[in-house]
Amino acid sequence: MAKKKPLKITETVLRDAHQSLIATRMTTEQMLPIIDKMDKVGFHAVECWGGATFDASLRFLKEDPWERLRKLRAGFKNTKLQMLFRGQNILGYRPYADDVVEYFVQKSIANGIDIIRIFDCLNDLRNLQTAVTASNKEKGHAQVALSYTLGEAYTLEYWVDIAKRIEDMGANSICIKDMAGLLVPTEATRLVKALKEATSLPIELHTHYTSGVAAMTCMKAVEAGCDIIDTAMSPFALGTSQPATEVMVEAFKGTEYDTGLDQNILAEIADYFRPLREQALDSGLMNPKVLGVNIKTLLYQVPGGMLSNMVSQLKEQNAEDKYEEVLKEIPRVRKDLGEPPLVTPSSQIVGTQAVFNVLMGERYKVATKETKDVLLGKYGQTVKPFNPEVVDKVLGEDKKNAITCRYADLLEPELDKIEAEMKQWKQQDEDVLSYALFPQVATDFFKYREAQQKGVDASVADTKNGAYPV
Ligand code: CO
Repeated sequence: MAKKKPLKITETVLRDAHQSLIATRMTTEQMLPIIDKMDKVGFHAVECWGGATFDASLRFLKEDPWERLRKLRAGFKNTKLQMLFRGQNILGYRPYADDVVEYFVQKSIANGIDIIRIFDCLNDLRNLQTAVTASNKEKGHAQVALSYTLGEAYTLEYWVDIAKRIEDMGANSICIKDMAGLLVPTEATRLVKALKEATSLPIELHTHYTSGVAAMTCMKAVEAGCDIIDTAMSPFALGTSQPATEVMVEAFKGTEYDTGLDQNILAEIADYFRPLREQALDSGLMNPKVLGVNIKTLLYQVPGGMLSNMVSQLKEQNAEDKYEEVLKEIPRVRKDLGEPPLVTPSSQIVGTQAVFNVLMGERYKVATKETKDVLLGKYGQTVKPFNPEVVDKVLGEDKKNAITCRYADLLEPELDKIEAEMKQWKQQDEDVLSYALFPQVATDFFKYREAQQKGVDASVADTKNGAYPV
């Protein structure tokens, strides 16, 4: 048998899997009873924080996300904890000044994160540097993710060039982040081979089952030299989530890539999560629709989460019959905006603009603030130029204010101002960061927390903002 190169597994059930299947609603209480067992498996890492979990904890679960992280850290004594970080957008939806980015990285690592997976929705590497440097400084593992997408500009040369620059910027590993399940098996072979040749960094594959090819893609990627794959425990796998952990472990058993993970412990963990899945199906939180194969994702390159967002936007407007029309509009808007990958926040920006274009009956009759900001260069540089007619129509005279520098270079430090604004609520340093990202949602949470501490029934406290009870 060939020389052993055991495949490493990053388990996503505590982050991406429930974000993808049950709108990020898994609570800390649901996680804690099983983490001791998960800690014994020998996962390379457990992804458990960042992405939408921060927003959802504060907004819907009325939980302090920092408290969750500390509890997970206390339980996972032997396993690395991983988070997802949106580059200069941190865990929010707009670019922040460098001091906020640096402080967030510092606090994430101080509270227990080992690996920070950092991506930019435009693959503009200038938006990653601050987070990578901060992570290096705090002795964290900085993994940079390529937001994988398809399009004229996204050639093998493009990915290789980016990977080399990622290595130069001080990253510790590279992730191929395929949020919509667009990477097909044969392409995985080509891409992983090329990246392995171009850099000496470990390569990790993150993909979604949305289009039905994910397990095959993982296999091809591993055979081509991919070091780590992301999987989810079977009750929260497949559909818009990741391939199943147990299945991938079994698939490589006895090969040179054997993970060495124990199926018996995995089975016990799956037993724990299965009732949570049943419960989510019964309550409607898990929609059977997201569990099937959605081949449209390959046709329109729309990530799963974006589809469900769009459907609810159309529902609100009583315009569900416009679904197909909007789906066709999405690639057109994407082209107008320089053909970016579709991942938070570019996916929301393109999706919402496509909905407007269809519902208004005239393209760009109304442009969102975010669309304007993209065209003004605030989110960074796109791989292709913008459609000049769209720029004229949307920006008009404002066109002359467009920037080509890194937007954060124009931003004054924000932390002091933010802290002054929220001083009355501050019970820990981390509260400043919660507020920085989601001022309204965090304030509602702070009010709720205070009411709880005073023993006031939160459901009868000031509900002016409609934020609680959950
Ligand atoms: Co994902």
